[in-house]
Amino acid sequence: MPIPVIIDCDPGTDDALALFLALGSPELDVRMVTVAGGNVGLAQTLPNARAIVGVTGKKVPVIAGADRPLLGAFRSETAVHGTDGLGGVRLPEGPPAAPGIAADAIRAALREAPPEGLTLIGLGPATNLALALATEPALVEKVARIVLMTGAWGEGNFSASAEFNAMSDPEGLAVLLACGRPVTLVTLDLTAQALVTAEIIEKLRQGEGECRKVACDILAGIPMSRRFGNKAYPLHDPCAIAWLVAPELFTNRDCHVVVECGVGPGRGRTHVDRWDRLKQPANATVAETIDAARFFEVLDKALGRLE
Ligand code: BDR
Ligand code: CA
Repeated sequence: MPIPVIIDCDPGTDDALALFLALGSPELDVRMVTVAGGNVGLAQTLPNARAIVGVTGKKVPVIAGADRPLLGAFRSETAVHGTDGLGGVRLPEGPPAAPGIAADAIRAALREAPPEGLTLIGLGPATNLALALATEPALVEKVARIVLMTGAWGEGNFSASAEFNAMSDPEGLAVLLACGRPVTLVTLDLTAQALVTAEIIEKLRQGEGECRKVACDILAGIPMSRRFGNKAYPLHDPCAIAWLVAPELFTNRDCHVVVECGVGPGRGRTHVDRWDRLKQPANATVAETIDAARFFEVLDKALGRLE
């Protein structure tokens, strides 16, 4: 049986690839896509999400959510994603957004969840998911699992300390880490193993379909990373989808994780106690390794199933 999921995202180039991977994977039943401001403002991430879902032809509702974090100021990430969030790749306008607001829609979906519950996937700031759970805590029992692309046990990519999604709403992430349901973290340390190179993009281009073309155009527009000698970059958000689609590609470790919510230079830092130094109960499963070659095969197959 496919896993019923809600995807909360901020497209975003790698979010777009994650949506293609999810919508092209029979292992997942994507019930809705909710959107926050993140990589760029909500005025851009919402049409981007609608356009990506539109190009797949799937009838999945796309719903607007928060345009700012629970606390603090909104910050975008245009250096990687471009001012339009998709690196300049133009798409036909997608179907209109479904009515309502993300946190309400997530709560409604949880109320009607199947007995096995719903899995919540977070690919952007944690605001929408946190608002949904914090405003009706009884629904937490309907959450089968939360899978997040967020955080790092090593250095950050927003600051020396913090990864972009964690930094974009640390208080929201803290709500999710404390909710008591299983939480999986796909961190920067994991995504640094899923590196896109020019050769990988060329290989992915070998195939038919509009989604494949759009995906490869988006991949080609993402700047190579200084951290990887300007020859590769990490494909973050699709790794979180792959954790559900192909769990056999990963090794994991249960850890105690705390996100720093102070206002200093450590804001948004995720403290991942991989070696159980603090003897605290584990509140997260941290994905530690990924088989990158097979990950790109999974992505290739998913693109092959789309229009
Ligand atoms: C995360 O931040 C965003 O820029 C990406 O879409 C990804 O979700 C990586 O730090
Ligand atoms: Ca994202």
